[in-house]
Amino acid sequence: MLLTKEELPKVALNEMNEIHFEEVDMINNLYDTAMSGDYEKTKKLFDEFIEHIEDHFSFEEDLMEQNEFFAYPMHKMEHDNVLKDLYNLREKFEKTKDTKLIANFLKEGFIPWLINHLNTMDTVTASFLTGGF
Ligand SMILES: [Fe+2]
Ligand SMILES: [Fe+2]
Repeated sequence: MLLTKEELPKVALNEMNEIHFEEVDMINNLYDTAMSGDYEKTKKLFDEFIEHIEDHFSFEEDLMEQNEFFAYPMHKMEHDNVLKDLYNLREKFEKTKDTKLIANFLKEGFIPWLINHLNTMDTVTASFLTGGF
């Protein structure tokens, strides 16, 4: 296990927290599988993980657009950058079949990114959406 739900920053909008919690389960599962070295299973879970992230980001982006959130472009740019990293990683992973690439990325790249993103962009966005300021 890499990450517990308690370690995850909570935001003011519960629908967002729910999606983040689902992601924690997927990250832990994917990490354990990647560490086991099973390529096929890692690939399946990694594809599902990417799909979940795409849905996660579009959910937030739709809400921001509908509510004319002022920092929408900045928030979306952070999403787009990490998605780009994920697509590049998928290419490299499918070429090398090295499951450690995925485990390393989760541990060194994605989790620090996610915690920072939740503490900044998602926190401000959720406060705005719930009328906190
Ligand atoms: Fe989020
Ligand atoms: Fe976000």
